[in-house]
Amino acid sequence: MLGKRKKALVLYHTKTGHTADAADAVARGLESRRVKATVKRISEAKPEELAEYSIIAVGSPTRGAKPARVVKRFLKGLDRKALKGKAATSFSPYAGFRGKATVRRLSRLLRKRKAKVVRGVAVKAGAPLSLWKGPDIREKDILRLEELGRKLAKKA
Ligand SMILES: Cc1cc2nc3c(=O)[nH]c(=O)nc-3n(C[C@H](O)[C@H](O)[C@H](O)COP(=O)(O)O)c2cc1C
Repeated sequence: MLGKRKKALVLYHTKTGHTADAADAVARGLESRRVKATVKRISEAKPEELAEYSIIAVGSPTRGAKPARVVKRFLKGLDRKALKGKAATSFSPYAGFRGKATVRRLSRLLRKRKAKVVRGVAVKAGAPLSLWKGPDIREKDILRLEELGRKLAKKA
């Protein structure tokens, strides 16, 4: 008999849509490994919901070389052991600089709350210091995000 499907929550923040595209790609990777993935804006998520999921992915655009404030605030507001036993990762679209720093910062916040962290992915998209949408995430980077979802499924 088939086992019960694991559940993942993919949280993101976006202004011009790239991080939502990235979240969908991570979710597709998870789903391709039979994980049931729910994609949600972080501003609509509640800390209590996390208990239902064994896998968490968090995406934020790089803003001033860091994750967006709403994302940091959500993660910092979680209990110290809120992510214990869960597999987690992070991803960040960035226009040209410090995308990897954002991913590392997010990973550190996840690890502090006891998650088992899979190394995250930074992908280029958008325009620097601008609210113009700019170029979309390239197809090869969409594939990297899907692969991240598959790796995360394996870690859970
Ligand atoms: C206020 C602001 C600050 C930004 N800071 C950075 C930055 O430090 N490094 C960078 O590479 N891109 C930066 N960007 C560009 C965004 O990271 C990029 O456009 C990203 O793709 C936007 O994602 P979104 O469509 O999900 O909002 C910034 C954009 C804005 C609006």
